[in-house]
Amino acid sequence: MQKHKVFVTREIPERGLRIIKKRFDAEVWTDSASPPKQVIIQKAAKVDALASLLTDKIDAEVFDVAPSLKIIAQFAVGYDNIDIKEATKRGIYVTNTPRVLTETTADFAWALLMAVARRVVEADKYIRSGKWKVGWHPTMILGRDVYGATLGIVGLGRIGAAVAKRARGFDMRTLYYSTTRRPNLEKTLGLAFADLDTLLQKSDFISIHVPLMKKTYHLIDERKLKLMKKTACIINNSRGPVVDEKALYKALTEGWIAGAALDVFEHEPTSVDNPLLKLDNVVVAPHISSSSYETRSRMAEMVAENLIAFFDGRIPPNLVNREVLKT
Ligand code: GLV
Repeated sequence: MQKHKVFVTREIPERGLRIIKKRFDAEVWTDSASPPKQVIIQKAAKVDALASLLTDKIDAEVFDVAPSLKIIAQFAVGYDNIDIKEATKRGIYVTNTPRVLTETTADFAWALLMAVARRVVEADKYIRSGKWKVGWHPTMILGRDVYGATLGIVGLGRIGAAVAKRARGFDMRTLYYSTTRRPNLEKTLGLAFADLDTLLQKSDFISIHVPLMKKTYHLIDERKLKLMKKTACIINNSRGPVVDEKALYKALTEGWIAGAALDVFEHEPTSVDNPLLKLDNVVVAPHISSSSYETRSRMAEMVAENLIAFFDGRIPPNLVNREVLKT
């Protein structure tokens, strides 16, 4: 039997790649940088499936030259890089890797929160740059208490809920804003629903967990940042464009808010000249929230499972565009 052709746009962890290579006629892009759009277009024209990353823009331009493309298996939970409407219109299945990365990503939101609250990165630099001259000092690198503070979760999906769950151990009051109320979680995790403006006004730490869509683009803009407490910190490990970076820079330099911790940026990789990187009250990471050995391996395995299910004639376990089943 002729093997189906798959273009894998980057070397994903071996645990999944091995399965894909065994079952399919697979070509893997081995550069560490994403393939240029032109390459994706060329490859897509010849394959039955793509295994993609969130850095690959896959839209009508790709679909228009890819008559045999049937499925895109994304190695991520977010899929804002794929034009889902256009894929569905053409009967192309799109899958993602949800759930497996929820706890890992929530852990990292907390790593960011703790780092910005207690100035962990600044403290590290302080020692390494030879500034630690006076031993113990009563007012050295004062941070903000996390325990007992108010946490505001924007977007109570799986990851937002996992972040909220962790707040209980810190005796925090947790508010959330989401497009749908989650009464069960309100009860089990002790959360209070608030509209976004109220949440921003009342929270000491605000953690963003919404997907990037038209309506969440610059959800956190200048007006919203002005609502926050001067002592508050914002944490974003969802998608960069959810926060207006220019407005955030103003907020941080003009003292409207106290700090920010970012794992995501409006443009990735962000330039070393991004003015946010010059600020001590900003903690940054290069979009690594789901990056643990186990989780990334499991994600790769899920990509393989989704592809195999599809070509075995089953509904892939992580189908994103269920409307495609009607086409
Ligand atoms: C990472 O950002 C993901 O969407 O999985």
